[in-house]
Amino acid sequence: MSKPKIVVTRRWPEQIEKILTQKYDTQLNVDDVPMTVAEMQDAFRTADAVLPTVSDKVDAEVLSATPMKAKMIGSFGVGFNHIDLEAAKAAGLTVSNTPEVLTECTADLAMTLLLMVARRTGEGERHARNKEWTGWRPTHMMGSSVHHKTLGLIGMGRIARAVAARAAHGFAMEIIYHDPFPPRKEDIAGLNARQCNSPQEVFEQADFVSVHCPGGKETYHLIDATAFAAMKPSAFLINTARGDIVDEQALVVALQKGEIAGAGLDVYESEPRISEPLLGMENVVTLPHLGSATVETRLAMGMRVVENIDAFFAGKTPRDKLV
Ligand code: DGY
Repeated sequence: MSKPKIVVTRRWPEQIEKILTQKYDTQLNVDDVPMTVAEMQDAFRTADAVLPTVSDKVDAEVLSATPMKAKMIGSFGVGFNHIDLEAAKAAGLTVSNTPEVLTECTADLAMTLLLMVARRTGEGERHARNKEWTGWRPTHMMGSSVHHKTLGLIGMGRIARAVAARAAHGFAMEIIYHDPFPPRKEDIAGLNARQCNSPQEVFEQADFVSVHCPGGKETYHLIDATAFAAMKPSAFLINTARGDIVDEQALVVALQKGEIAGAGLDVYESEPRISEPLLGMENVVTLPHLGSATVETRLAMGMRVVENIDAFFAGKTPRDKLV
């Protein structure tokens, strides 16, 4: 029997590409250049499964490819706001993602940003490398303490809870959160986390607001000018979730007006473009979407896709089936 044909849209860790190549009739993207809409459509017309990543748009236009041959989308990443799930379902496609395996890694990065922006370490590093440092002095580059401050979580899913555990146990932080789908009691046991009735309550009370809800229509610009106006002038925003949950222009204005003290960002509204004013602000830390970027995690994500497509082609329900 011939092997199912799969198209991998970007470079994946070598070990995973090897496994895919052994198991499937695999088309790799060795140049790692993002595929155009026409190339994506072609993939859906010619392959049995398409394996995109979170930076590939799999929208209604891409999914209007005819005749549609593909039956499966095995996405590399936990977020799925890049895929039009309704259009995929209507086109008869099964879609899977890669939850769980990147939880700890992303939580580590949220804490990294929180510490960096509070303790001014991006700015400090630039200062030292630029040979501007003239020596220790009591008033030099004073940041904000992190320990015993209040961490406000927008969303209380797996990644938020992993951040809460680090913050509560490692930094004695007080945890507050809002989630329209609150976690089970047993999932937040030991975190001493207090539920807020609205995101607004979190904005008003937190010293650090960290974003952990999914992207998409429901959360688009959830953090806007009104949210920034409600936040303490000493507060910091941390975003490792999705760029368009935050109104980036409103963030620029809030930072310019001093409505908040700073921001630690891993994701942006129009990746890979970052709003120019943010790049010039010393109280903003900008990372290039590195949340899950460790060797171990990227391998685990790849293996999770392999598991999902293996199940699909064996006639079983993939573990991480979304639709
Ligand atoms: C995801 O998986 O959704 C992250 O944004 C990339 O790891």
